[in-house]
Amino acid sequence: MKCRVCREPAVIALRRHNANFCSDHFLRYCRQQVDRVIDDYDMFAPGERLLVAVSGGKDSLAVWDILRELGYAADGLYVGLGIDDYSDVSLSFVTDFVSRHGLELTIVDLADSYGFDVPSAAEATGRVPCSACGLSKRHVFDKAAVDGGYDAVVTGHNLDDEAAVLYGNVMRWQVDYLGRQRPLLEARDGFPRKAKPLVRLTERETAAYCVLRGIDYQVEECPMAIGNKHLGFKEALNLLEDRSPGSKAEFYFGYLKRVVDRFTDFEDRGSLGTCPSCGSPTDAETCAFCRLVSRTAGHSQPVAFTTRNEATVRQH
Ligand code: AMP
Ligand code: FES
Ligand code: ZN
Ligand code: ZN
Repeated sequence: MKCRVCREPAVIALRRHNANFCSDHFLRYCRQQVDRVIDDYDMFAPGERLLVAVSGGKDSLAVWDILRELGYAADGLYVGLGIDDYSDVSLSFVTDFVSRHGLELTIVDLADSYGFDVPSAAEATGRVPCSACGLSKRHVFDKAAVDGGYDAVVTGHNLDDEAAVLYGNVMRWQVDYLGRQRPLLEARDGFPRKAKPLVRLTERETAAYCVLRGIDYQVEECPMAIGNKHLGFKEALNLLEDRSPGSKAEFYFGYLKRVVDRFTDFEDRGSLGTCPSCGSPTDAETCAFCRLVSRTAGHSQPVAFTTRNEATVRQH
């Protein structure tokens, strides 16, 4: 097996591209894919400040690393979800990366800042943990980006994630979500710009990228997400991909090219007010996050937004 570019021995085969790459050319391919997404969607302008939401997993560490390599000014944001050892171990991968490269990281721990964690929120609401988890992460990402004066929030969503979310939304005809499923969402109504520069790379590719770059990452799946619907959609798409390589990318990029604009009208564009508790934009009297804070045991009032400081962590 030889590298498509230099004919040296290859370390990875990408069936959907019918191509093999050596280590150097694979790393270059990954950067090119990210650069292409940034270019195609006009994601960032030179000199902008980016906030990378970093979980300690392969995708968010890879996107942070690639953005730095491409010359972008990117700081990190870690949200402590309080999921037992999983959260502690995930944070240690983030802080290792941060100290290795002398980067800036903000940590927002849900328990310290808001008096609840994902397991207690799941119990208080009687809903699946991912629901409180997703709501909390979105709130913290948005607030940290706006408060910190960042130009955009970057997440590590990859092709497998986006294709699985699309599949799930199509299965249930969630037309309002379908209109918003794009690699770039412009800032609007008080929400920051949101960018997903990894959508041209698969999970397997971001994992290989980290291994070849010597980046250690959390390999475990979140213990609270095991068995959820999203993972089921991923598995279904993997079966299709295995039989016919490239079908995941065709499904997702075909949607972006030919279909997504047709769903724009379904987006709920009602006017937004301001949450009296936290100042976030909201279509209800109090925002969903502050309602979650109120519902979690023993904490009826949201507390101020704070960050926990550590040696390598930006002081707020
Ligand atoms: P997930 O929702 O777990 O699939 O993660 C999607 C993306 O959200 C990741 O690639 C990260 O960019 C971001 N993310 C997930 N968990 C965290 C976290 N605990 N702290 C900061 N960012 C996160
Ligand atoms: Fe959110 Fe597991 S990462 S519930
Ligand atoms: Zn090569
Ligand atoms: Zn609020």
